[in-house]
Amino acid sequence: MKNFISVRDVHNIDDLIQKALAFKANPQLSASLGVGKRMGLLFLNPSMRTRLSTQIAAENLGMKAVVFNVGQDGWSLEFMEGAVMNGNTVEHVKEAAPILGQYFDVLGIRTFPSLQNKEADYSETYIHQFIKYAGIPIVSLESATLHPLQSLTDIITIQETFKEKRKPKIVLSWAPHVKALPQCVANSFAQWVNAWGEVNFVITHPKNYELDAQFTQGATILHDQSEALQGADYVYVKNWSAYTEYGKVMCTDPNWMLTNKKLAITNKARVMHCLPVRRNVELSDEVLDSPASLVTQQAGNRVWAAQAVLSEILPSTY
Ligand code: CP
Repeated sequence: MKNFISVRDVHNIDDLIQKALAFKANPQLSASLGVGKRMGLLFLNPSMRTRLSTQIAAENLGMKAVVFNVGQDGWSLEFMEGAVMNGNTVEHVKEAAPILGQYFDVLGIRTFPSLQNKEADYSETYIHQFIKYAGIPIVSLESATLHPLQSLTDIITIQETFKEKRKPKIVLSWAPHVKALPQCVANSFAQWVNAWGEVNFVITHPKNYELDAQFTQGATILHDQSEALQGADYVYVKNWSAYTEYGKVMCTDPNWMLTNKKLAITNKARVMHCLPVRRNVELSDEVLDSPASLVTQQAGNRVWAAQAVLSEILPSTY
């Protein structure tokens, strides 16, 4: 693996899941793989889970990990070709990326979308500029439109908890939120579940919250949440802002929040969320505090997903 920015970088999803579960069973399994290698973790936006789990994963493989909060501590970066930099940006990615490429062997980057300009966000300029100019492997720590380390984690969590010999029914259910959030977790989850294949996949959301079809093709899309939840084995709860009316909040209906009453029509579904979660807005206390919730187990698995990905990338750095 050279870069990790979407499911398309993965040769075999099942093999990657098994690798992650092997690291979960024995975190020191490949403790010398990354000795002498250094990973830079660049955050243009806030993070708790991604930052810490990727650092731990790198260290489990013998790497050194250095976190740099570009948004707080660094010079503000310019990405536009031909920019006249007489505004707020101080350093162009054309200088920053090759310098970081000399300091590090692998570079992880987190960038959020503007939610103002769909074309710019969906062209993933930031991450592609780093791939173009850094000259070392790039790992997405969440980009404008995708969150592949989260999605791999989500599938690992489903794989390790589903014990029946049939396809699970997985429902991605939109939830209310007080802010306009990116589509990336939902896009990425849909992309990975569709690529994984052997599941019954349903997406439910209010009208006007359709995601980009390039990610959802293969899923059943329902606007009736109750119909979608029937017989579900997993309910993945997530808010996202509108894709068509880009970045807009089109619905705040609290009835979309998952409750125990709604869970009663599922097949004793396990509940997932990428976190952070707004309690009693996106998900009720009664669900989050119940045995149905997988959210902390899911977040714990971020380490093993990152470790599996880094173990695939490291050989390309030798
Ligand atoms: N789920 C997730 O990416 O969490 P952080 O934003 O805390 O990294």
